[in-house]
Amino acid sequence: MPRKVDFLVIGSGIAGLTFATKIPRPADILILTKKRKADTNTNYAQGGIASVFSNEDSFDSHIQDTLNAGVGICHKDAVEIMVSNGPRLVQELYDMGCRFSVDAQGKFLLGREGGHAKRRIVHAKDYTGYEIERVLLERAKQRGVVISENEIALDLVVDNDECCGVYYFDADTRRIDILYADATALATGGAGQVYMHTTNPPIATGDGIAMAFRAGTRIANMEFVQFHPTAVFTIQVDGRSFLISEAVRGEGGILKTTEGEPFMDKYSTAGNLAPRDIVARACVAEMKRLGTTHVLLDISHLPADFLRNRFPTIYDTCLRWGIDITREPIPVVPAAHYACGGIQVNTQGETSIKRLYALGESACTGVHGSNRLASNSLLEALVFATRAAQHAGDIAGLAIPRDVPINATPDKCPDRKLMIKEIMSRYVGVIRNKQGLIAARDQVRRLYAEIADGIHYKNAESLNMTHIALMIIESALRRQESRGLHYMEDHPGTDPEHAHDTVIDRTSILE
Ligand code: FAD
Ligand code: SIN
Repeated sequence: MPRKVDFLVIGSGIAGLTFATKIPRPADILILTKKRKADTNTNYAQGGIASVFSNEDSFDSHIQDTLNAGVGICHKDAVEIMVSNGPRLVQELYDMGCRFSVDAQGKFLLGREGGHAKRRIVHAKDYTGYEIERVLLERAKQRGVVISENEIALDLVVDNDECCGVYYFDADTRRIDILYADATALATGGAGQVYMHTTNPPIATGDGIAMAFRAGTRIANMEFVQFHPTAVFTIQVDGRSFLISEAVRGEGGILKTTEGEPFMDKYSTAGNLAPRDIVARACVAEMKRLGTTHVLLDISHLPADFLRNRFPTIYDTCLRWGIDITREPIPVVPAAHYACGGIQVNTQGETSIKRLYALGESACTGVHGSNRLASNSLLEALVFATRAAQHAGDIAGLAIPRDVPINATPDKCPDRKLMIKEIMSRYVGVIRNKQGLIAARDQVRRLYAEIADGIHYKNAESLNMTHIALMIIESALRRQESRGLHYMEDHPGTDPEHAHDTVIDRTSILE
């Protein structure tokens, strides 16, 4: 008998765990995750989760800030859903045991981050993601959700335009096998690993987006790669550049040149709290102007006790690397951080293939437009995974297709990760131009030509990263303007003709 579950979830971050724990009926639910349970972007989230809790705040204000950051292409209906469902679902996480920081009256202490007009960032000091992951893993255990570690999903099984499950590499049997499900949810996170410097852990190779792309779904807005302005220059922890949360600037941190000159006021009236795209470009411009490898982030003017208590992870990690943030500035550089684009879904998380949902960072719900506002990612994942679970609850049973072949090609995909990272970092970073994008496309296409058809399992991530790179480059080439995170030197202005999503599928690139 083929192995079948009711609900199959790929990924154990906030999106996958929320979906799995919110299916509204008794069901057989399995999560596949490619490393250990908590090896997720979620686990490293620092700043917090944006939501309206203050009396001085309003849904309208949060909606407007989100739309402003996205520069004309956010889907307003999706933004409204995200913002208005936020307080209820964030409160639910707290009630489940998430140790968010609160004041003496038990009210959330609200942080401030770039692009937000108000204090609205609910946080657990600087380890918000760790707390969310911990609580959701506990909830999954209580609910009887099975989490299978070290299992890598390779491709979707699609029959008659319906997703029937996945091909996966079974770590126990060392074989490729098929898992069938009534509904499959991709919650595989982002793709920061296609760049040399990224805040994302090694799992973030864009697998779900690449799998959905190969299966023929619509993919939107891949050109909008968010670079976080402040990753520590030179500190790599477990394959990722260590992040200094935007909350540090929210509490008064100041960006300075290596000569000690504050520079953000030259670039935005919002200064150090301008949206991320503006801050990242300003850092790159200052590094270029002065010929330096990094800029500085200085928070040492605040009381040492406050810093140690508010940012314990950042304080301890920097200290281990010889930087005392209470006494000296931190050397920082922009690093790839977040994929605003992904698998195009509607507001129930449905993709363009039946029985297939996409959630969290691997999905494009339309809420971020051309630039995600700080701390809106955890919120988006929470809200839309909840809605997708409610929707999926009604799905009918799958008739398992017969004789699905397993066309595996074990040795035919060479490891190209490093080459992809080099190409993407050189030509498809914070500042782009048409000539560079064409050079990148030619080089990645040459790498792709060496890859055979079939299911690759030895170097599945390498194949996925090649596809992600092609999607980012193709989408960037289609947008001959500058908007949000996508800045073209040869088209510095924003063109109203381009005020729409960039939607591609495999026929745009591979056929
Ligand atoms: P993830 O949490 O990344 O989970 C992906 C899961 O999919 C993992 O379990 C992974 O192993 C699994 N997976 C991937 N491929 C496969 C495969 N082929 N087979 C099986 N399993 C697979 N956002 C905020 O809103 N606020 C913040 O403060 C914040 N801080 C951040 C700090 C850092 C350092 C980083 C990197 C991101 C931060 N973000 C923040 C962004 C946010 O954390 C992520 O966008 C969000 O956690 C993504 O959740 P997810 O569930 O979609 O994916
Ligand atoms: C941070 O803490 O700066 C990250 C917040 C985010 O990515 O939203």
